[in-house]
Amino acid sequence: MAALHRQVEEHQSGDELDVNPVYFREKSCDIPRYQLPEHGVLPRTALQIVRDELILDGNARLNLATFVTTWMEPEAEELMAECSSKNMIDKDEYPQTAELERRCVNVLGSLWNAPSGGNAVGCSTTGSSEACMLGGMALLWRWRARRRAAGLPADRPNLVMGSNVQVCWEKFCRYWGVEPKYVPLVPGRYQLGAAEAVALCDENTIGVVVIMGSTMDGSYEPVGEVDAALDRLQADTGVDVPIHVDGASGGFVAPFLQPDLEWDFRVPRVASINTSGHKYGLVYPGVGWIVWRDAECLPEDLIFRVNYLGGEMPTFALNFSRPGAQVAAQYYNFLRLGRSGYRHVQQTCQDIALYLSGEVAKLGPFELLSDGSDLPVFAFRLREDVTGYSVFDISDRLRMRGWQVPAYTFPENLTDMAVMRVVVRNGFSMDLADLLLDDLRLHLRALERNPQKQPPPEVQAKRQGFSH
Ligand SMILES: Cc1ncc(COP(=O)(O)O)c(C=O)c1O
Repeated sequence: MAALHRQVEEHQSGDELDVNPVYFREKSCDIPRYQLPEHGVLPRTALQIVRDELILDGNARLNLATFVTTWMEPEAEELMAECSSKNMIDKDEYPQTAELERRCVNVLGSLWNAPSGGNAVGCSTTGSSEACMLGGMALLWRWRARRRAAGLPADRPNLVMGSNVQVCWEKFCRYWGVEPKYVPLVPGRYQLGAAEAVALCDENTIGVVVIMGSTMDGSYEPVGEVDAALDRLQADTGVDVPIHVDGASGGFVAPFLQPDLEWDFRVPRVASINTSGHKYGLVYPGVGWIVWRDAECLPEDLIFRVNYLGGEMPTFALNFSRPGAQVAAQYYNFLRLGRSGYRHVQQTCQDIALYLSGEVAKLGPFELLSDGSDLPVFAFRLREDVTGYSVFDISDRLRMRGWQVPAYTFPENLTDMAVMRVVVRNGFSMDLADLLLDDLRLHLRALERNPQKQPPPEVQAKRQGFSH
């Protein structure tokens, strides 16, 4: 137990309480950090203590590592504060929050071109990780049912995906006993290739995960090409494999910035799509969404019907209780922005990403892996002839003024490739982009004057976190 603050007793009064909330009384009583204190403190005191600690957190606006929303307008914040006690699962007490969820699922279904007049089904989740888990489970259950119906063994399922998948897919495979089959990345192809994916498919493949877009560099994977290649596989072998699209970020970007790109339910094999409401859906964490093409894609035995809260309620989720405020905020964003508003926000992010990647490319030592023309996200690395410093050194130096620009190595097969990545989100302005460029120029000059001794990239990568 370490003493952090002195405890302020409720019975203290007079000048002490009038003069100072916490600081000068820190000498007289301890507030333990890791154990429940015997007595409480006044609300203001507790607030101040917790706030004081939190000033050590980073500045969200300077964080170009995360995809997650860090700015919402005051009206949205007001709504979320009003809804903060609502429990999403308690659909009897909060039927209108449940109705907003239903509307959001419909909005997403139509945004993703679910067949008109169809019966797309879906739900909110805590984020894409949970949504991916549900999507993967539906694929697994359907595959098992098909195999059992055909009298075939159903004990060795596998899932095909690029080795650039987000960790939630590795978790899905481990938690559900599914063999992950990774398409390795190779120099020049930093995402899933259609031919390579289909080459790994067999009768035990529950599905192929295609990402819109890759966490590693923001690029979109070729959903249409994977679909066509799977058609050929079926024609040749009879093996019929569905696609799940992981649109954690792209689910809220592609419909607005690349409306003609066919990656969604227009592609016949796409059975389900997930997205993060708290990424380009522009809601604070945590809310995610999953939509299935139709009720057939979601096996009935995954749905639980419970009536503890009054009224029968179907649920398909890993957690039972969950905050309702994010769902209300998602619906707020749909009303507030509409199609044109979302397009405008995402286009602004993309303009800034393209500008910034263009300027980064002009600095000299860097080459781009992507430029922000898919997601407003780009990755870049140092040219091979730059040896006096690494992307990890640059990332470290940028932190001196609070910028968080992650440096990391690529997965298996390309672990010696170290890159930096910039995620442009709503709230990152052109002005901030110019300030970042100024700092980047400054640090490059300093590093060129003072070359650093370089451990191998894998060792350096361990110093840094990789942020999603
Ligand atoms: C492609 C992809 N899938 C899934 C996830 C997990 O999303 P969440 O953080 O919403 O759980 C991420 C997060 O970055 C992602 O980029």
